[in-house]
Amino acid sequence: MEIKIIVGDIAQIEADAIVVNLFEGMEQPGGATAAVDEVLEGVLSSLISRGEIKGKFGEVSIVHTFGKLPAGIVAIAGLGKRQDFNVDRIRGITGDFCRALRKLNCHRIATILHGSGIGGIELEASAEAIAEGALLGLYGFTKYKKPEYEDIEEILLAVREKGKVPILETAIGKGKLVAEAINLARDMVNEPANCMTPGQMAEAAKEIAGKYNLEFKVFDREDMETMGMGALLGVAKGSNQPPKLITLSYKGDERSEKAVGFLGKGITFDSGGISIKPSEGMNEMKDDMAGAATVMTAVVAIAQLKPKINVTAVIPATENLPSGTALKPGDVLKAMNGKTIEVISTDAEGRLILADALSYAQKLGLSPLIDLATLTGACRVALGTLYSGVFGNDQDLIDKILKAAEKTGERMWQMPMPEEYKEQNKSEIADVKNTGNRYGGAITAALFLAEFVDNTPWVHIDIAGTASSTKESGYITKGATGVGVRTLVELALSEAKSREAT
Ligand code: BES
Ligand code: MN
Ligand code: ZN
Repeated sequence: MEIKIIVGDIAQIEADAIVVNLFEGMEQPGGATAAVDEVLEGVLSSLISRGEIKGKFGEVSIVHTFGKLPAGIVAIAGLGKRQDFNVDRIRGITGDFCRALRKLNCHRIATILHGSGIGGIELEASAEAIAEGALLGLYGFTKYKKPEYEDIEEILLAVREKGKVPILETAIGKGKLVAEAINLARDMVNEPANCMTPGQMAEAAKEIAGKYNLEFKVFDREDMETMGMGALLGVAKGSNQPPKLITLSYKGDERSEKAVGFLGKGITFDSGGISIKPSEGMNEMKDDMAGAATVMTAVVAIAQLKPKINVTAVIPATENLPSGTALKPGDVLKAMNGKTIEVISTDAEGRLILADALSYAQKLGLSPLIDLATLTGACRVALGTLYSGVFGNDQDLIDKILKAAEKTGERMWQMPMPEEYKEQNKSEIADVKNTGNRYGGAITAALFLAEFVDNTPWVHIDIAGTASSTKESGYITKGATGVGVRTLVELALSEAKSREAT
């Protein structure tokens, strides 16, 4: 799909559909909506006064023009209440109107730059959000099934001033590239576990490295043994698929040896192992490598945006399966940092593989560390499916991440890590055990990870609730969401900027 700028009056554009908008509660259309209304001889204002077009956020109203305009359809995008409006809502409504128009067989659509000039939103922020919203909202996982609708081939962004074209093109370029990285993450997560094994994940990383000129490394079982990664190896024991520890490095600052570490949980299928999960819904556990996909594709976007910073993604990848050689409840493992772990549940495997990945990242000297993981059902219970849980040992870093998340419209919420709950991870026979009690499961999981972090600033983001969606809404489509990519990319960009300033 192409996204282009077109200078001129939206009402006169030859396209299958043109898109204008309305805030909720407005009795009279304004701006481009008013101009289109005039050509349509008041049809829009009468529909508004009849209450048929309300402008509620996410509402897409379709009006046919029957020859009054070059475009056959006018879509009126509901922006919601003016006071609730923000850039993320531009993304959202764009996803909604793009899907609505695709269903109507539109191939070429034109839209105004929704929201620009409102509440300080710049023209280019709107263009970037529209590019993201369109690509994300039109995403589908079509590898194994023909798509239901034909593609929208072209989106034209209508602007009045010719002078704005270059900056808008840059903004569209950035939006497209980030959205494509997110869609790549979605593809990887939506891929069934038989086609996204640890080996295939390593292959994907290698391909990415070749394409974007990144450094790629992969470690096998024997390497892990040499490095003493007993926790990761313990989880991998039950599977015939060999585990992989993958690193992908972007070097944007040649003068520095330092690099930020992004870690992602890469369980390509989580059956629970011997502590097996109920069969209902177990298929969803192919998503358990969403953290891995996010960190990998965030690096893809960063490699194209080229901030002056170094980033290394670290991905422990394995299946979690039951078998005659599988890890058993009660087993004791020795992690890379020397700590012993009593395995109470083999289904609390994410923290085991991340324990060794965290040690390895520290051995590489990566700092700060940010891990993303579909770690606990408890986080989904606590925060639902909109908010990811944020934990960490460094409030400055947590604040930076929350700020990056806020800026990019990814909802994240800081969770507490009270000392008292550490009690829950105490084992009678080992340094720690891998499960706490019934309550506060997302927190005890984070406290477990903290056992494997020394003094490095570290943040853990639990995306168990947010990594996939059962509903289609705005720029979120069914299945994998690619959550976290925007926040990590924004963090890398803002870090590079602030370091340059000092
Ligand atoms: N991958 C799951 C967590 C999960 C659950 C992700 C639902 C997405 C949706 C994780 O490995 C797991 O099984 N966690 C257990 C931990 C428990 C055994 C302490 C859980 O949350 O039940
Ligand atoms: Mn599990
Ligand atoms: Zn898991």
